[in-house]
Amino acid sequence: MNTLEFKKEICIPSLDLASEILALKKKMNAVILAHYYQESEIQDLADFIGDSLELSKRAAATEADVIVFAGVHFMAETAKILNPGKKVLLPDLNAGCSLAEGCPAPMLKQFKEEHPGHIVISYINCSAAVKAISDIICTSSNAVKIVEQVPADKKIIFAPDRNLGRYIMKKTGREMLLWDGSCIVHETFSDRKIIQLKTENPNALLIAHPECEEVILNRAEFIGSTSALLKFTAESTSNEFIVATEEGIIHQMQKLSPQKKFIPAPPDANCSCNECPYMKLNTLEKLYLCMKDGRPEITLDEDIRQKALKPIQLMLEMS
Ligand code: 13P
Ligand code: SF4
Repeated sequence: MNTLEFKKEICIPSLDLASEILALKKKMNAVILAHYYQESEIQDLADFIGDSLELSKRAAATEADVIVFAGVHFMAETAKILNPGKKVLLPDLNAGCSLAEGCPAPMLKQFKEEHPGHIVISYINCSAAVKAISDIICTSSNAVKIVEQVPADKKIIFAPDRNLGRYIMKKTGREMLLWDGSCIVHETFSDRKIIQLKTENPNALLIAHPECEEVILNRAEFIGSTSALLKFTAESTSNEFIVATEEGIIHQMQKLSPQKKFIPAPPDANCSCNECPYMKLNTLEKLYLCMKDGRPEITLDEDIRQKALKPIQLMLEMS
């Protein structure tokens, strides 16, 4: 053993991150909430894994003192809006979202002013400042249900996802003014490669998240939020699926249905673009460090928090 190897062996004991995280969780009275798009080792450690709606419901109901959010910024921020007295930690503060980034609050405010007489329904994938100027929040699992409850004479601006917005318009027959935003993961799937996959796997069903482009949704045999897709694969009599959403969800699909085959829908380019680069910023090491150090912590301006809370509460009542 050379000197460097000797020093490493003596000074840097390797940590069993999973056990350390579980011990810290107990010590801090924390709950770990994880989205399905997190890497599988984080999903396996979490107290609860869910889609955006289920995670906000869990965050609203938790009795833990600390919420450790293994997801992206807008999700942890929503947990903080619902729990101002609790500490909310996010392993990497840079874990953003292309939808949230593509809809700055001052620009949405200007859009509202240019189109008076509209109510604003915002997809939960947006900043607290955008929520604060919205009338109702929705997620991919309750969007159709929420729009259906809005009186027919009310004009609607829908932000920030144009693909989800277009899908809701088709399902409900309601006209809406759409903000021109999209998810960098769900807009990446290649129609041409999916057709090729369908030819090679004739029994496979194409299932898609409503954030996908219209051409993919038109071809899909089932459309739903991440939880709805998971439930569909578990309950379906089919044994093969082409999955057009972030591929992290396949971990739970495979766990629930080990005998079934799940094929990630391929992106247009030769890249791993069906992995969300923001979600994947969180790692087991960062999860451990954020719990050990008690940061990065989500903080919010109290005025914005109170304004953002109203449309979230309305969503929870309406869904
Ligand atoms: P859901 O969790 O509502 O399925 O949304 C997926 C997503 O893209 C979250 O960022
Ligand atoms: Fe945002 Fe898309 Fe990533 Fe979800 S998958 S966090 S919508 S960029």
